[in-house]
Amino acid sequence: MEIPFWNLSRQYSLLRKELLERIDLVLTTGEYVLGKYVRQFEQEFATYCGAKFAVGVNSGTDAMVLALKAIDIQKGNEVIIPALTFISTANVVAYFSGIPVFVDVEPNTMNMDPDKIEGSITQKTKAIIPVHFHGQPADMDPIREIARKYGLFIIDDCAQAMGGEYKGIRVGTLGNISCFSFYPTKNLGAFGDGGMVVTDDESMASKVRSLRDYGRRDKYVFDSIGYNSRLDEVQAGILSIKLRHVDEWNEKRRSIAKRYNELLSAVPNIERPVEKDYAKHVYWVYTLRTKHRGKLQQDLTKKGIGTHIIYAIPIPFQKAFEYLSYRKGDFPVGEGWAEDMISIPMFPELTEEEQNYIVTVIKDCMVGY
Ligand SMILES: Cc1ncc(COP(=O)(O)O)c(C=O)c1O
Repeated sequence: MEIPFWNLSRQYSLLRKELLERIDLVLTTGEYVLGKYVRQFEQEFATYCGAKFAVGVNSGTDAMVLALKAIDIQKGNEVIIPALTFISTANVVAYFSGIPVFVDVEPNTMNMDPDKIEGSITQKTKAIIPVHFHGQPADMDPIREIARKYGLFIIDDCAQAMGGEYKGIRVGTLGNISCFSFYPTKNLGAFGDGGMVVTDDESMASKVRSLRDYGRRDKYVFDSIGYNSRLDEVQAGILSIKLRHVDEWNEKRRSIAKRYNELLSAVPNIERPVEKDYAKHVYWVYTLRTKHRGKLQQDLTKKGIGTHIIYAIPIPFQKAFEYLSYRKGDFPVGEGWAEDMISIPMFPELTEEEQNYIVTVIKDCMVGY
């Protein structure tokens, strides 16, 4: 049996007719950039998040770029981010000659450890970017308390956690500005790139709306040096349809995770993901932890099962950030995760038969130790 890590074509075939009709409708309008489908999707997305404003942009990375620009990040400003994340969470800070200040993550969730933040705050700190890692919201109350105490902005990176909840509240209103990615593998994925900036702050929303469109105020009137970073009409039209399904897909992800947890409960030498009481985890990926990762990955690959290690190198140790001179041992918890974690297939259309097969291969591998 061949089971890829992600299978996006299954979802497409379920929605094919509706999506093709929508694409045709959009193309027929002759309006392809910042038209009615983007406006409609922005409204639907804001409503979904329980937020006042949503602004469509061309990627999750750009969502954070524009958010940082909206809070007026300056050269030399420090921004606190978790050591375990995707590289773009750190890149966006560096684009502005800001300094990403990495903190370690929690032992059971891999999310930014709130206890590590205060010790990293200096006069230069401007913001905190918590990442809702692998689909589980970070512990936001203590992070918000610290931000309040020191007057810092929170820009939360929601790229991996569309539809996730913290204490019953959907991600999207947990920080000052929340940033989403619609990269195709995400829980709400486009057929290309896309992103969204979500906020309750009207002035931030209007800054981002202008910044994504060259800094425009009026047709040929520009207030600031902005960007070309717009969500396009075709992607917005598609995402609008997919948004209606995202809760059902997330529930499927959650029941697949529950079933993995049950089937793997008696398997030795692995740890299953932990869902915190405060969180509704939406399992962008399902991640196990084992000291025997290399062998497990090899066995799964041999049996046709896709795996990913997300992420094997903490960002402070990437060559791109070696100029910051972090050293091995600076992030003991995150470094441990980076050595031991492995993610196995997780997508809403994964069948029980496929899951059984994956679990059998894992059992056979792990029982051998
Ligand atoms: C945590 C995180 N932040 C940011 C991004 C960047 O999003 P995009 O690829 O849409 O630029 C991603 C994923 O791609 C991500 O996983």
